[in-house]
Amino acid sequence: MLKIGVLASGRGSNFQAIIDAIESGRLKASVELLVVDNPSAFAIERAKKHSIPYLYVNPKDFGTKDEFYQKIADELKSKGVELVILAGFMRVVRKPLLDAFPMRVMNIHPALLPSFPGLHGQKQAVDYGVRISGCTVHFVDEGVDTGPVIIQAAVPVLPHDTEDTLSERILKYEHKIFPEAIRLFAEGRLEVVGRKVMIKDYKGEEDAVIINPPLQSS
Ligand code: GAR
Repeated sequence: MLKIGVLASGRGSNFQAIIDAIESGRLKASVELLVVDNPSAFAIERAKKHSIPYLYVNPKDFGTKDEFYQKIADELKSKGVELVILAGFMRVVRKPLLDAFPMRVMNIHPALLPSFPGLHGQKQAVDYGVRISGCTVHFVDEGVDTGPVIIQAAVPVLPHDTEDTLSERILKYEHKIFPEAIRLFAEGRLEVVGRKVMIKDYKGEEDAVIINPPLQSS
């Protein structure tokens, strides 16, 4: 059974989707520890409800960012964690954590990377005027949202979308693709080759297409 550790800063709906996938038996994993950088993160309530150990690590208690991430890495290692999940963790992760878990830190981002990295991916998509956006699960490297892509979901951006309406449409699919990425990892089906992630026994579907606005003539 894959042991995971989750880092979150806020609401924790992706954390909840992972808990639900585990509890329903769809994902063979266990959450060994939730780490938050914010003592009022709602993710803490979710951990309590599901009897998951949690820890608040205050970045201000550390002289440097590296010391903060070393502490988190040590706590995760002491719980036997094998895969680290960034579920709405609003900080750029640094070397001590990445060195402790090489290509074993996964992040979800609310845009189709490499478009719209960083904060407010949904607002960036609305402001730019793209017709299609979505979400991405990727392994984390030292850049900002630059690591190898594991799975993406695309949704239409509609004419009257705001940051909020688009965020809600994307979030529904975040909750589907994050547990799926973890499942692929747990089954040993992911291999990182250069900056690509190879998925064992996946051949692809040529006709999986989304066109927005849809074609009105054929
Ligand atoms: C999600 O939309 C996630 O993609 C985004 O924060 C939200 C967290 O929601 N993450 C980022 O923007 C990371 N750069 P949640 O706390 O309900 O899971």
